[in-house]
Amino acid sequence: FRIAVLISGSGSNLQAIMDATATGSISGEIEQVLSNRPDAGGLERARQAGIPAEVIDHRHFDTREAYDEALGQRLTALRPDLIVLAGFMRILTDPLVRTFAGQMINIHPSLLPAYRGLHTHARAIAAGERQHGCSVHYVIPELDAGPVIAQAPVTIKPDDTPASLQTRVQAMEHTLYPQVVSWIADGRVSLHDDQVWMDGQPI
Ligand code: GRF
Repeated sequence: FRIAVLISGSGSNLQAIMDATATGSISGEIEQVLSNRPDAGGLERARQAGIPAEVIDHRHFDTREAYDEALGQRLTALRPDLIVLAGFMRILTDPLVRTFAGQMINIHPSLLPAYRGLHTHARAIAAGERQHGCSVHYVIPELDAGPVIAQAPVTIKPDDTPASLQTRVQAMEHTLYPQVVSWIADGRVSLHDDQVWMDGQPI
């Protein structure tokens, strides 16, 4: 089971998924890590683990369409079974998303459909929420709107700051994301007609 991971930043979720492939809790291999930023910390994490890591720098492309075409060609050549967005901070064009429909997942730091977009921790605190968390979903053209596969809740404490809340949500991400990848690698989870199926049942 061939996995490609796309990153833009520190790559702590990438690390969690690499660790899970190393121990065998994910039955698959990360074939390639791709970053749109040359300074992404996750590139070094990949190299440390002996996984090929490559930069396709968005600043070398004039348009979003041109970038996504190059990224799509690279991904097609890799023939991944699953593309994992792990802090890949770019909005993807429709053609790219459609090319890999049902084969691309993302982790988002909120209990979707609440708090799509950025600054989710600050927004959840400002709204007086008691519950926050993270969601793993299939990617569709609309941002953070794809069918949810699994979520992990985190209780907001009265004295939480966006940073303290983010720390606890990320700890949950590092368990949830490898878990979902392992389910997909094992054929337990898939997408059919915008519906997530798990163990032979729509969820
Ligand atoms: C995570 O908080 C994830 O929810 C969001 O981007 C962040 C990536 O962090 N999509 P890292 O690069 O995996 O450390």
